[in-house]
Amino acid sequence: MSDYLRPVSDELPTRKFGPWAVEKLYYLTEYIARFSVSMHNKPWRSRRYIDLFAGTGKLYIEEKDTYILGSPLLALTAPQPFTECVFVEYNQDNLNALKKRCGAVVTTTTIHYHNGDSNVYVQQLVARIQAEDQKHRDKWSSLNLAFLDPDGLELTWATVAKLAQVKKMDLIIHYSQGGLNRTMRKYFASDDKTIVDRFFGDTMWREIYKRHKIDRKQPDFLHRALIDYYKSKLKKLGYVGVLSEDETGIEPLIRNKKRNAPLYRLLFASKHELGHKFWKSSTRQTPFGQKRLF
Ligand SMILES: C[S@@+](CC[C@H](N)C(=O)[O-])C[C@H]1O[C@@H](n2cnc3c(N)ncnc32)[C@H](O)[C@@H]1O
Repeated sequence: MSDYLRPVSDELPTRKFGPWAVEKLYYLTEYIARFSVSMHNKPWRSRRYIDLFAGTGKLYIEEKDTYILGSPLLALTAPQPFTECVFVEYNQDNLNALKKRCGAVVTTTTIHYHNGDSNVYVQQLVARIQAEDQKHRDKWSSLNLAFLDPDGLELTWATVAKLAQVKKMDLIIHYSQGGLNRTMRKYFASDDKTIVDRFFGDTMWREIYKRHKIDRKQPDFLHRALIDYYKSKLKKLGYVGVLSEDETGIEPLIRNKKRNAPLYRLLFASKHELGHKFWKSSTRQTPFGQKRLF
C-alpha cells in the first residue's frame, strides 16, 4: 500500500492537530460505515459524500508524533464506496496534497475537487445536484452526506441552508464552542456583520449571549441555549428530528484533554429517522471504548 494511504509521513504537506482530532474522525468513520453499508444495495442514483473543508488528507498529531488519515480518505476508503465524493479546500497546497493522496486509492468513486471558498462553491454544487435529482421524479434520487468541518467559524449559515435545499442531505456540523467563546464577547455589541452573525445566520445569538451574561450562567448553559437556537433553525429547514428530546444529547463534545477545555461539538441533522438512529449508535462510545457521558 502506498505511504500516501498509511498513517506515516509521506513527505506531502500535512497540518498539525491535537489528539482530539482522533475522536472527531472516529464518529465520522462510524457514521460512514453505517450509512455506506446499509445504503449501498438500494437503487439510489448516487451516494455522495461532500467534504466542504477537506484539508490535506492526512493529519499530524504532534503531541503523539503520529499521523492519521483525514476525513476525505476515510470517506474514500469506506467499506462500501460512495459513488461520488466532493472535496473543497481553499488552500491550493492542501488541495494538491489531497489530490495526490486520493490518487493512490483504487476506487470506482468519481471524485470532484474544487479549490476555493466552500461558502461560495456551495451554490454551484447544489444547483448541479438538484438538476441531476430533477431528471428522475421517483424517490431514489441522490443520497448525500456533508461533513462540515472548518477550523473555527468559517462555515456560514447560508451554506447550511443551501445544502438543506437538497432533498436527502445529512449533515455533520462542527460547532466551534472554543471559537465562539473566543469571539462572542468581542462581537456581541458590534455594529458590523461579524463572523458569528454569519455562522448563526442572524443576530439572535447576541440576545442569548447578553441574557446569559447578565444572569452569570455557566458557559454550558449558554452553549445549550445557542445550540438549541441553531437546531431550531435546522428544524425550519426540514430537519425535523433534530430537536426531539431524545436527540439533544447526541452532540459529542470534544475537549482538549490536557486542559479539559471544550473545543467543539459535532451536531448532526438528517431528515430521516434512520439517519438519527445511525448517528446515535455511532456516538454511543468514545474511540477509547468508554460509554460516552453526555
Ligand atoms: C479542520 S480542517 C479539515 C480537516 C479535515 N476534515 C480532515 O479530517 O482532514 C479545515 C480545512 O478547511 C480549509 N478551509 C477553511 N475555510 C475554508 C473555506 N471557506 N472554504 C474551503 N476550505 C476552507 C482549511 O484550509 C483547512 O484545511
